[in-house]
Amino acid sequence: MGSITLIVYLLCFLVRFHRVQGELSISEEEHLEFDNQLNVLNKPPLKTVVGEAGDVFDCVDIHKQPAFDHPLLKNHSVQMAPTSMPEGLIAKSLTASKELRPVQETVDCPHGTVPIRRTRKEDLKRAKSINTVSHAQRSISPHPKTSTLTTKYPGQHRAIVRTKLSNRMYHGAYGIMNTLNPNVEREQWSSAQIWVENAAGGQLDTIQVGWKVDPKLFGDTRTRFFIYWESNADFAEPKGCYNLLCSGFVQTNRENPVGATYAPTSKYGGQQYTVSFYIFQDGITKDWWLINRDLKNPIIYGYWPKSLFPSLTQGANYVGWGAVTQAASSGFSPQMGNGYFADGHYDHSGYFSNILVMNESYDAEEIKRDILEIVRDAPKCFNAKLYPYRQDVGNSIMYGGPGGACGV
Ligand SMILES: *[C@@H]1O[C@H](CO)[C@@H](O)[C@H](O)[C@H]1NC(C)=O
Ligand SMILES: *[C@@H]1O[C@H](CO)[C@@H](O)[C@H](O)[C@H]1NC(C)=O
Repeated sequence: MGSITLIVYLLCFLVRFHRVQGELSISEEEHLEFDNQLNVLNKPPLKTVVGEAGDVFDCVDIHKQPAFDHPLLKNHSVQMAPTSMPEGLIAKSLTASKELRPVQETVDCPHGTVPIRRTRKEDLKRAKSINTVSHAQRSISPHPKTSTLTTKYPGQHRAIVRTKLSNRMYHGAYGIMNTLNPNVEREQWSSAQIWVENAAGGQLDTIQVGWKVDPKLFGDTRTRFFIYWESNADFAEPKGCYNLLCSGFVQTNRENPVGATYAPTSKYGGQQYTVSFYIFQDGITKDWWLINRDLKNPIIYGYWPKSLFPSLTQGANYVGWGAVTQAASSGFSPQMGNGYFADGHYDHSGYFSNILVMNESYDAEEIKRDILEIVRDAPKCFNAKLYPYRQDVGNSIMYGGPGGACGV
């Protein structure tokens, strides 16, 4: 056991050593700045494990994870589970998930620790925090009120089903989605995800969860589990980041880290591999939890403490399901989903099934079609369709498209 750990350390050292040699071009100041950030992000691990896809995960004391460097979370005590699980949802999602297969890579960290994908200097250079990162890395809110942001991010396209603006207040969203591996080249990214957002009183807060192929962010073209949050998103100095690249999300799971790989992914006309996400607000603590309900035993990933969000604390006035692509600077967009337009067959494109919202009474509610609208900003490249309720798949959405020269 001890010798395996030693070997892992040696390998990591060698990998780092090689990388450093190729990095001589960055300035001394940048090195220092990145070293400082790495000291904050990479906590002393109690154990280091290598995931199935070759990523290095540090098992960090749950109380010392990056979230607690956030000034607002200094005195926060970790919650291990929401105060209650919405029963209506559990019944609904389990009947729908008989044939689903779990596909997420798992790691085995000791009790009392959580796996954190090790952040290297290259990761920071590629995708620091959103305050300094290139605009194209941000995942822009599709909230109907955020028109100002849209024009600033050329090449970002969406095919989304979202709730219309109304006076309603949601406390969560759910959906089962197939995992896919679109072709994505350098500078591009392609994701499929669920949004939970609130825009009120001049604030916009967003929580986004799903899978993403993003070479800049992850250093490869695998399909990965990502989370993303921003607070104050519609202003010059938003806060937030992907995964655990900044302090915010409190991970509570010792086996299912954010950033993990989904493999295999679904094939056109073949087996569909799925994952379900349930983002919901605890009615008592008001924290926002993230749970996978595919399995008999739910996977509780963790939560965003309410203090991160000025406006989501009250609930969300917008939820959505769909996909986003980011073009390279050449203007060329990657595939969305598996590269095929939605055509009504679940195994032909990307899909979300059994979509639900958590309503004003913190209860799972089937969505009425008239509260939803479809947003497609590059219909020649990407589409999204909403399908009527069916017993087995509930309300469902399909999306996808080949990408290419889609305009700005
Ligand atoms: C944390 O607790 C200390 C000591 O009680 C207090 O002085 C400080 O203001 C608290 N910080 C936050 C962010 O609540
Ligand atoms: C929320 O959904 C539940 C279950 O569908 C329903 O009984 C309840 O009336 C809904 N609450 C509101 C405020 O719409």
